[in-house]
Amino acid sequence: MLIRQMTLDEKIGQLNQYTSDRNATGKITADGDKANQVRQGKVGSMLNVVGAEETRKLQELALQSRLKIPLIFGLDVIHGFRTTFPIPLGETATWDLALMEKSAHVAATEAAAYGIHWTFAPMVDVARDPRWGRVMEGAGEDTYLGSLVAKARVKGFQGNGLGNIDAVMACAKHFAAYGAAVGGRDYNSVDMSLRQLNETYLPPFKAAAEANVATFMNSFNDINGIPATANKYIQRDLLKGQWNFKGFVVSDWGSIGEMIAHGYAKNSYEAAMRAIIAGSDMDMESRCYRDNLKQLVVDKKVDISIIDDAVKRILIKKFELGLFEDPFRFCDVEREKQQTNNVANRELAREIGKKSIVLLKNENSIDGKPLLPLSKRTKKVALIGPLFKATTANHGFWSVAFPDDTARIVSQYQGIKNQLERNSEILYSKGCNMNDDDKSGFEEALATAKSADVVILSLGEAANMSGEAKSRSSLQLPGVQEELMKEIYKTGKPIVLLLNAGRPLIFNWAADHIPAILYTWWLGTEAGNSIADVVFGNYNPAGKLPISFPRTEGQIPIYYNHYSTGRPAKDENDKNYVSAYIDLQNSPRYPFGYGLSYTKFNISNLKLSSNELNIDKGKLDVTVNIENTGNYDGEEVVQLYVRDLFGCVVRPVKELKGFQKVFLKKGENKSLTFNIKSDDLKFYNDQIEYINEAGDYEILIGNSSDTSLKANFKLTM
Ligand code: BGC
Repeated sequence: MLIRQMTLDEKIGQLNQYTSDRNATGKITADGDKANQVRQGKVGSMLNVVGAEETRKLQELALQSRLKIPLIFGLDVIHGFRTTFPIPLGETATWDLALMEKSAHVAATEAAAYGIHWTFAPMVDVARDPRWGRVMEGAGEDTYLGSLVAKARVKGFQGNGLGNIDAVMACAKHFAAYGAAVGGRDYNSVDMSLRQLNETYLPPFKAAAEANVATFMNSFNDINGIPATANKYIQRDLLKGQWNFKGFVVSDWGSIGEMIAHGYAKNSYEAAMRAIIAGSDMDMESRCYRDNLKQLVVDKKVDISIIDDAVKRILIKKFELGLFEDPFRFCDVEREKQQTNNVANRELAREIGKKSIVLLKNENSIDGKPLLPLSKRTKKVALIGPLFKATTANHGFWSVAFPDDTARIVSQYQGIKNQLERNSEILYSKGCNMNDDDKSGFEEALATAKSADVVILSLGEAANMSGEAKSRSSLQLPGVQEELMKEIYKTGKPIVLLLNAGRPLIFNWAADHIPAILYTWWLGTEAGNSIADVVFGNYNPAGKLPISFPRTEGQIPIYYNHYSTGRPAKDENDKNYVSAYIDLQNSPRYPFGYGLSYTKFNISNLKLSSNELNIDKGKLDVTVNIENTGNYDGEEVVQLYVRDLFGCVVRPVKELKGFQKVFLKKGENKSLTFNIKSDDLKFYNDQIEYINEAGDYEILIGNSSDTSLKANFKLTM
């Protein structure tokens, strides 16, 4: 066994991870000192080193170390690598798990060809607070959907298993409960009941572990007073104990050292001790392990068996990746070239892009028909807004930058232009900037609007307003964009609004006045083409929101599966000593699961195979009928929710438990069957035991969480 030959210093080296001195945009090699440390076996992994040649150079240094243990190269491959896919929140709006798996697999294939072994993804934090900028990285607010997406993404990244050259190690992050940072302020504390932790925040992590995710990353926040990084319950007892996770845990960037600022460790010695004992195996960038672990062992504060366990976990992954067999198997310049401009990958990005778009509103234009889709023969189309000619903005946060990005990304302007017929004319005006008070462009924009038949406005928050450390207290359109929109509205021209953002924005005026609204998130390399596909009806949109859209910031946190109160409001107008706001409705502006289509679907005829389900045996078949009653072929996501009417603890008003995305031709009719098993109805009781409880339940079905059909059944012993 390799570990028996290792000195303590060499073992500690394996637990040490450095970043390169630059981020992924530049040419990357280790600086002198880091290079030396790599050569001396004092580094187990590097992040932000990209490229077959760059990684080869460093790997060669690692092979000069006494035991020739190869490095692992990690990178944030969050939504694509060379080909950028929609931001994960946007991609989740497809509700298409197979597609999410595919995009993760393409990202892995491309990244692996550039020397990468490990992505710090998927981010599986449930996020119910859109002020938190990192909502863009995950799958939104729902535990059930989030768990399925977590599995799909892990499977996609890890492909047919580590050791294949198109597979990278995935990393479920940020463990745990990071999405519940108080006030939506990044890095903030998390204070939450064990019930909520188990019921809502942990299941996607558990799902990732069940999908064999290779690694976990812990989180910056404290959980009920203990930083996640030093949280033994979370990492050692739960993850490595109860869940029997065999991979390793990496700290978040500097999070071990940050426990000093947290006031949880006096110095880096204490920080290292607490983190390693709690189960954090690899130290990303804090250097606390490098500087203290040896002394901690000498002082008998940390048992060598704990270090050995961490080292073994990391070495096993190096073996599984095949790095001992061939440390350079991911450093192949030829393969890198092949993956540099992969047309099929771009096609997939375009497909996922169009499927991520959510149609929020589509009302009558002047001729009495819904405004969208637009005709490609529209004579004069005005494109107005600061995002039409933007390129890199379409990538959103957490994309991997390349020097040729500007040339590769299909701008929204270009996408529309590609599809308009030759005799049509595009008029363009920027109108304003993303985020300042300059209105000098308004006049020109108004003139442009006036001479057009249709105006398409592309507005939103700036791409760098969501992501890490991008919390916002206001979710309105920044700058003078809303004013510009109001001015253009006065021209009386039909307006299609594209909203670009990494989170739910608040745009009530637009929702009340603008006839057609598409939520486009950040769609990636093929953004312009994906948007044009929907605008002109090549593709009939079917995206569904993976997160509730509030009416005002005052409603946050807002999520569909809240508990029932003792004084629920009867309806939106009921304010009489009930749980309500005196100045606002309770409902969100757009609910979880919501999204329109160019066609109409009618869901009806909900039937249960029985009105009883036995806990030990049997399943319940739930059938509904769906008919496409509109004028276009299209897809619909039929959603099944369950409500436990009375429990030994208070239960949510509804919980998603199933969905099916179906395609129906115009006029077509289908019957759909869902199966409900007693396992789907389990929950945590007051002892935090996961149990089934006999009693009355309700099935709710609809095309959003604002469900339309209902049926009851009993769960019996
Ligand atoms: C983020 C992680 C990321 C890491 C490495 C941290 O700041 O929280 O999500 O993987 O940096 O870039």
